[in-house]
Amino acid sequence: QMRVRKAVLPVAGLGTRVLPATKAIPKEMLPVVDRPAIQYVVDEALEAGIEHIVFVTGRNKGAIEDYFDRAYELETTLQNKGKDKILTELMDSLMPAGAASFVRQQAPLGLGHAIWCARDIIGHEPFAILLPDVIVKAKPSSLAQMVEAYNKVGGNIVAVDPVPMDRVSSYGVIAPVERDGRLIKMSGMVEKPPVEEAPSNLAITGRYILQPEVFDLLANQDKGAGGEIQLTDAMFRLMETQDFYAYEFEGAPYDCGSKVGYFEAVLAHALDNPETAEAARALVKKAAESL
Ligand code: G1P
Repeated sequence: QMRVRKAVLPVAGLGTRVLPATKAIPKEMLPVVDRPAIQYVVDEALEAGIEHIVFVTGRNKGAIEDYFDRAYELETTLQNKGKDKILTELMDSLMPAGAASFVRQQAPLGLGHAIWCARDIIGHEPFAILLPDVIVKAKPSSLAQMVEAYNKVGGNIVAVDPVPMDRVSSYGVIAPVERDGRLIKMSGMVEKPPVEEAPSNLAITGRYILQPEVFDLLANQDKGAGGEIQLTDAMFRLMETQDFYAYEFEGAPYDCGSKVGYFEAVLAHALDNPETAEAARALVKKAAESL
């Protein structure tokens, strides 16, 4: 069984749920305390042992590429001013040389199509997908937990998290059959079901480990929910021929693609960051008292 070495991060989405903030910058670059949201997701992938990240980008996403590249002027200026701490943080945020690829999704045809755009760079090996809208606070990281499970059972794994029943129509939802610890056997999955048709409240949370055969299915996948080529539909077909598990990870996911989710992510990370924790706690108390 091959190790999971590569990951796809689809970052072509327009960020319409947080407009106008995302009119001129990619939603993935919105700061969560002191670093852009995407940095948390890349760090999660690296912590899980990922060695190469394929970013599926689109128009107006150049800032992401620049962010992971060296910035000589800035580095020199910081060095000359003796700002060593910030310089170290800046250098730490870089991807190792040659460890990132960028491929453009030319039209917004859906998540399934975005992932398919990475097929040549992934090649014939198992790979991870991390949806950067979702930041997960977890130790070990949610993908690291999944990789550990994958190394035992192989096959394909999607991360799931219980959501309130009235939220299920915003997610891919699985039909659970049997549970063994955090691993769940499934009989199916469906993208954005109406609440009365949802097979459970276990929502797919934006972390996946998949076998490369999914690319063959994505190549001829019909449009699904929202008129888009859905990854969930291709995964459902893959279940016919391959082992497939859901994994209920331990940790807190924040959907930074929504206004409230983004606010929650900032709050949780501010309360956790040693530099800001004390001040953030005092601010939250003050705000709560004024309610
Ligand atoms: C995508 C997936 C969905 C998943 C969700 C998690 O939907 O298609 O299955 O539950 O991400 O955030 P999107 O939010 O891009 O519409």
